[in-house]
Amino acid sequence: MAQIHIHNLFPVPVMRVEGFLSRRATDDVLAAIRRSPQLKNAQTDLLAHTEVIRPQQNPHYQQLDELAQESLRDFGFLLFGENLNWHIKEMWMNRLSHGGHQVMHSHANSFISGVIYLTDSDESARTVFHNSMGSRQFVFSNQHAQSTTTPYNGERWVASDMRRGDLMLFPSYMLHAVPRNEGGERITIAFNALPERLRSWDYEVRFAGQ
Ligand SMILES: [Fe+2]
Repeated sequence: MAQIHIHNLFPVPVMRVEGFLSRRATDDVLAAIRRSPQLKNAQTDLLAHTEVIRPQQNPHYQQLDELAQESLRDFGFLLFGENLNWHIKEMWMNRLSHGGHQVMHSHANSFISGVIYLTDSDESARTVFHNSMGSRQFVFSNQHAQSTTTPYNGERWVASDMRRGDLMLFPSYMLHAVPRNEGGERITIAFNALPERLRSWDYEVRFAGQ
């Protein structure tokens, strides 16, 4: 009998850091965020963001930045094969009310993006990753009632295991969205991170903060 081997080529990593924040730390960050004036002003919108700031500008963000360093180093190793020094260059908070959604997007000028879940997400409003959308070429697909989704033809992947207190890291180029929230308030903190430098044999690219 012939043996069949399937080689999974070029997978994309998404990291879940389960219990990144303790229950108490999650409560503390959530309480501080609810008191923040940016959030209060934006409460009529179904999707509210706070201002995008550097972690050093907010003690809670600074603490999250320090906590995330180990995960960023390990996830960065998967992407670049080296333990690099990573900097979170910006952080912000998202609050999605019932009926709100987040359109599909990716994060520019960043290599690793992260989401810290401060609440559980309703089943309807989980972060969804989309496979690349076929730029300017024609695309053929075979999707119908009798077809099956495999790891190779799938167009979407739902981060269904993220819970309150978890951190998710993903490559910043990945397209993602949050569908319409049919449940209660969903609060997350998002961030973008850059390595100190990348080296390709005899030259180096450095990323400097201001
Ligand atoms: Fe995003």
